[in-house]
Amino acid sequence: MALRKARTVLLTMLLIGSAAWAAEQPFVEDPPRQAPAQVERQQIQPLNNAPVWKEVRSGEPGITQVQGIETGVLVQSQGETWRAIRNGPITLLGGLLLLVVPVAILLFYFWKGPLRTEGPLTGRELERFDLWDRTIHWTTAISFVILAFTGIILLFGKHFILPVFGYTLFSWLAIASKNVHNFVGPLFIFCSIVMFVSFVKANLWRSYDWAWVKKFGGMLSHEHVPSGRYNAGEKAWFWGGVVFLGIIVGVSGLILNFPNFEQGRSTMQYANMIHAVAAILYMAASLGHIYMGTIGVEGSFKSMKTGYVDETWAKEHHLYWYEEVKAGRRAPSDDSAPARRPQVQH
Ligand code: HEM
Repeated sequence: MALRKARTVLLTMLLIGSAAWAAEQPFVEDPPRQAPAQVERQQIQPLNNAPVWKEVRSGEPGITQVQGIETGVLVQSQGETWRAIRNGPITLLGGLLLLVVPVAILLFYFWKGPLRTEGPLTGRELERFDLWDRTIHWTTAISFVILAFTGIILLFGKHFILPVFGYTLFSWLAIASKNVHNFVGPLFIFCSIVMFVSFVKANLWRSYDWAWVKKFGGMLSHEHVPSGRYNAGEKAWFWGGVVFLGIIVGVSGLILNFPNFEQGRSTMQYANMIHAVAAILYMAASLGHIYMGTIGVEGSFKSMKTGYVDETWAKEHHLYWYEEVKAGRRAPSDDSAPARRPQVQH
């Protein structure tokens, strides 16, 4: 009983003591949650959050629990500039180029017609592309076309597919295009590298290629300008398209495809714009190549389809190559192997 009384007295004294101590402490206000400028702004212009957003848009990293590159930056303002450039000049000028080039090519075709094989066909055929050449060419070409179609849907789709298909269908199409594009991209890069290794030797520049350039390959005069295994136009396509634009499109594409290597938003924005511009130029240039490989030069498509060309075609379009093959100094479709007898089909 006495013990309980003593405990009650002790507790009462403790309570009175702590209350007296608390009363003596100076009153401390909560620290202001808003920046002083915003506090002031809220009084003069309630609901105006401009200073907060100014601070957010400054790009200064804030504090966050999420670990990773730029996770402290809530809004990266350069994104607006990127969006304006991508959806502005890149889409507009790129779209115009991709419309103007095929129209120009068609007009040229109706004006000058195809480059025909003039002499009579002999019926004797030379092997121009072996199975390896054709496999690597068509795998690269098909993956390029898939990338071109899906890329066009991603960049221009909202202007010409969305109004026709509506949001739901276009959304599915865009998602599918993005995934196909992401997976076919690395395949195309791989094929381009293999194509480079296989085709580079015959694409080295030779002094006689200048004659082809000066006469524009006889495209206007319909004169047959002699050339080696590949003419200067094909070499321009190889070095300018496959190599130069291929490297730019490939490297920028890999930066976009694998964002897990600590590249920030700004790097991705630059990569996106460079990728789009280079891809548009590559597509425009490919139309020239596709024209020459199909309706532009009679008999050209057959060489990549069957691997064989008629001797007359070889003589008229690639005279130096033809002479080398006939003289047995060069294997018809193999650039690097030592010369062996040409394979002539009767
Ligand atoms: C999709 C349509 C395409 C068609 C119809 C086509 C057609 C052809 C044809 C017929 C040839 C043989 C020309 C000759 O006998 O001299 C050829 C060569 C060649 N093609 Fe294509 N091609 C296409 C796409 C591509 C693409 C997308 C690439 C590269 C990304 C490419 C790269 C090459 C290369 C490197 C050569 C060898 C000539 C040179 O080195 O420039 N082709 N193509």
